[in-house]
Amino acid sequence: MKFRGKCVLVTGASGGIGRETALQFSREGANILVNYHSSPDKAEATLKAIKEEGTEAISVKADVSSPQEVLKMVDKCTKRFGRLDILVNNASQHPPPVFDIDRPDWSLWQRMVDVNAMGLLVCSHHALIHLREQRGCIVNVVMDYAPGGLGYVATKAWGSVLTRGLARKLSPTRVNAVSPGAVDTWGMAAEEIHYYTKKSLLNRVGKPEDVAKTILFLASDDASYITGETIVVDGGKRLVD
Ligand SMILES: NC(=O)c1ccc[n+]([C@@H]2O[C@H](COP(=O)([O-])OP(=O)(O)OC[C@H]3O[C@@H](n4cnc5c(N)ncnc54)[C@H](OP(=O)(O)O)[C@@H]3O)[C@@H](O)[C@H]2O)c1
Repeated sequence: MKFRGKCVLVTGASGGIGRETALQFSREGANILVNYHSSPDKAEATLKAIKEEGTEAISVKADVSSPQEVLKMVDKCTKRFGRLDILVNNASQHPPPVFDIDRPDWSLWQRMVDVNAMGLLVCSHHALIHLREQRGCIVNVVMDYAPGGLGYVATKAWGSVLTRGLARKLSPTRVNAVSPGAVDTWGMAAEEIHYYTKKSLLNRVGKPEDVAKTILFLASDDASYITGETIVVDGGKRLVD
């Protein structure tokens, strides 16, 4: 078990990639803080699944863009588990809001900046003291490339830039990122599966497991000489016209 006795905080672990990441860490022996924002039932389901894997977990409601709420969440984590080794900055608004430059809704834009970009910094800041103590690391879930996109895509793209910036600033604490392609976390319709399958060099859509496995790799000692890196997990989608 690669993460036995470690403590992992996964933001947005009530659904999709976050939930699967929390479960995979748990299978490798880690205790988990399951963060959620507005889906307590889903967070509870993640918690239950983790406990069935045999490790400990707590769920904490916190908006990642709120410094006060994140500080309280990190405190709960270290009070319960006595440590924090790994932070996975995964939370993001879903479905992604659509920003229209012809009719801009500036509060919608600001909220995307707050959750997708500032949230990553807020959580990193509050976790840092504990990560340094444990020689831990950070893994961000970002979006490194996309054929456009003004709101969601733009604010998620900051994730890669912030990953490199944090890696430089926080060294020797390692900071890396995973950039997923199309991952079926919302129950894709048949047309969507067909579309994204054709867009992949590997003839299928992404699964949360594909992304979670890469997150665990980056958090593990196997990646001990990797920092400031973003690994694209998209089945080659970016290479298809
Ligand atoms: N799925 C894809 O195709 C894809 C592609 C590229 C990148 N990504 C990235 O992968 C990550 C996970 O996406 P997903 O597809 O698994 O989405 P998802 O199933 O909708 O999960 C999003 C998670 O973020 C949480 N969240 C939203 N706003 C929050 C806030 N203010 N504070 C705390 N938590 C918040 C949600 O919690 P509540 O439900 O409790 O509010 C939920 O657990 C995101 O960073 C996303 O941008 C996904």
